[in-house]
Amino acid sequence: MDSLPEQFHALVIGASGALGAAFVDLLRDTPHCASVQGLHRNSSIRLDFADENTIAEAAQALAGGPRFHLIINATGILHDGTIKPEKRLADLSYANMQALFQANTIGPALLMRHFLPLLDGERAIMAMLSAKVGSIGDNRLGGWYSYRASKSALNMLVRTAAIELARSQKNSVLVALHPGTVNSRLSRPFHGEVIGRPAHVAARDMLDVLDKLTPNDTGSFRSYDGASLPW
Ligand SMILES: NC(=O)c1ccc[n+]([C@@H]2O[C@H](COP(=O)([O-])OP(=O)(O)OC[C@H]3O[C@@H](n4cnc5c(N)ncnc54)[C@H](OP(=O)(O)O)[C@@H]3O)[C@@H](O)[C@H]2O)c1
Repeated sequence: MDSLPEQFHALVIGASGALGAAFVDLLRDTPHCASVQGLHRNSSIRLDFADENTIAEAAQALAGGPRFHLIINATGILHDGTIKPEKRLADLSYANMQALFQANTIGPALLMRHFLPLLDGERAIMAMLSAKVGSIGDNRLGGWYSYRASKSALNMLVRTAAIELARSQKNSVLVALHPGTVNSRLSRPFHGEVIGRPAHVAARDMLDVLDKLTPNDTGSFRSYDGASLPW
């Protein structure tokens, strides 16, 4: 992360997940990273999108510490014990859509609300992990209604927040970032072990992309190889 200041401070949200944990590991091994904090649903500073107060409280708990030069949100769900991605309209349900939007859209939006003010004014990047299947322009296969729509909505929120952020924090960069297919709990029911890259490889690729971003890139939707993705 050569573009960040010497002794930079980093925060990873969703640090209990495959990609979140990989980001924490890689940043811990980065010589000029002064600190990296990982937050998740069971960390000492707890953050759970099902409990709105925990988002503001987590930000408040960190506000007395150093400003962050890098914040990565690696939270998200595609399925759980009861939720499966929908194949057809007939599979849609209010409860499942609500759960996906809470985890992939509303929670991350509130993260931007509470954590963007913690960025360092000199040079800072906040990356929100999204997914290429959230691209409306790239949608050729259909299916996965709630996951796709929750990530499309996240992308809109990132873009909108980036416009607002640029007015007050001109040196900050806020982007939506697609990790590619990664072997993780999220991808496992969909052959993630076979078709997915190891989380550390994906996280390394994404840190390299983030390192090259400048304030001109704020509000963009990037892939793990640096390419701009269609909205
Ligand atoms: N894996 C892929 O192939 C792939 C592809 C495209 C995009 N992505 C995106 O990459 C991101 C990370 O995915 P991953 O593969 O690392 O998944 P993962 O291993 O399942 O990790 C997901 C993370 O999200 C957290 N989380 C879920 N619901 C939450 C909630 N309500 N409140 C707070 N935290 C919550 C999990 O916490 P717990 O540990 O407490 O459950 C975990 O830390 C996601 O945004 C995903 O959509 C992944």
